[in-house]
Amino acid sequence: MNRTTPSSYPVAGYPDRVTVYEVGPRDGLQNEAALVPTEVKAELVARLLAAGLPVVEATSFVHPRWVPQLADAEDLLRTLDGMDLHHADRRDLPVLVPNERGLDRALELGCRHVAIFGSATETFAQRNLNRGLEDQFTMFEPVVARARQQGLDVRAYVSMCFGDPWEGAVPVEQVVRVGTRLLDLGAGQLSLGDTIGVGTAGHVRALVRAFTEAGVPLDRLALHFHDTYGQALANAEAALGEGVTTFDASAGGLGGCPYAHSATGNLATEDLVWMLHGLGIETGVDLDALVATSTWLAGRLGRPSPSAVVRALG
Ligand code: HMG
Ligand code: MG
Repeated sequence: MNRTTPSSYPVAGYPDRVTVYEVGPRDGLQNEAALVPTEVKAELVARLLAAGLPVVEATSFVHPRWVPQLADAEDLLRTLDGMDLHHADRRDLPVLVPNERGLDRALELGCRHVAIFGSATETFAQRNLNRGLEDQFTMFEPVVARARQQGLDVRAYVSMCFGDPWEGAVPVEQVVRVGTRLLDLGAGQLSLGDTIGVGTAGHVRALVRAFTEAGVPLDRLALHFHDTYGQALANAEAALGEGVTTFDASAGGLGGCPYAHSATGNLATEDLVWMLHGLGIETGVDLDALVATSTWLAGRLGRPSPSAVVRALG
């Protein structure tokens, strides 16, 4: 038996194929206290692409004082220009842009996929964007309009969809209101973030249903889980059961948000891929190559990966 391949038992009604949206180089690294050399980040991106990840979010064009780890965004993209990216085009790697200044920086580097990131709550909008809940839309509106005019693809994140460390419970209706407004601005895809990992499976199902009832097609939704309470994989399966086909994950389970201290690592890409392959769902990802990448990165970061699958196979 190949120990890196789970037995495949498909479940009726689940999707045949899922898009794994890799956020490790951005969400995974943004919270690392010690600066990771640009060459290591570039090698990470290239190895993730070589492992078959269809989407690899590369970095953020945010204020360098707010996220010092990603202050090398331009350098990273230029470094990638000189590398073999395994048939991927560097311009197609998504990057985060909070405002028009961020968009200008992304356009200068020829980026074709950008992501804005909103908050479902007032407090986190203030803490993460230095804007109120309402003002975030004023900041995003020209970003999305200009990006679309230039033919760019825009993703919108919503943070604190399942709970907020300052405000507590976040009603489903509030998340739907924020999310549909971001889609109405012109974003193509909405990624629903459990920034602090407090969501549970029934809550996930209720939120996905509330969006579909509000008229948002399932193929415009992605789910973005952090694993603070060990629920990320169960939550991903609940969303699969609702028909969601795009999941964000971070290689090796790295991650967190520097502006939400109760946020820990993202759902590990390896754990997600193991589950999906066990369900007979295609991802295009080579799990061995991915585990080897996370094991290599753990060595560079000086601590073991929190992913159970990396620990089992690495
Ligand atoms: P601000 O201080 O309000 O910015 O920050 P401002 O518009 O007042 O401008 C102040 C100065 O910053 C100006 O320079 C601007 O040019 C400059 P000055 O004229 O004084 O010399 N500036 C910039 N420089 C470079 N790049 C830029 C930029 N923007 C302004 N883009 C801002 C507002 C949004 C910029 C700031 O709050 C920020 O950078 N926030 C980013 C926070 C962040 O990156 N958080 C992590 C990502 S979100 C996340 O992890 C959650 C997610 O994973 C989903 C989930 O898990 O829920 C996506
Ligand atoms: Mg996140």
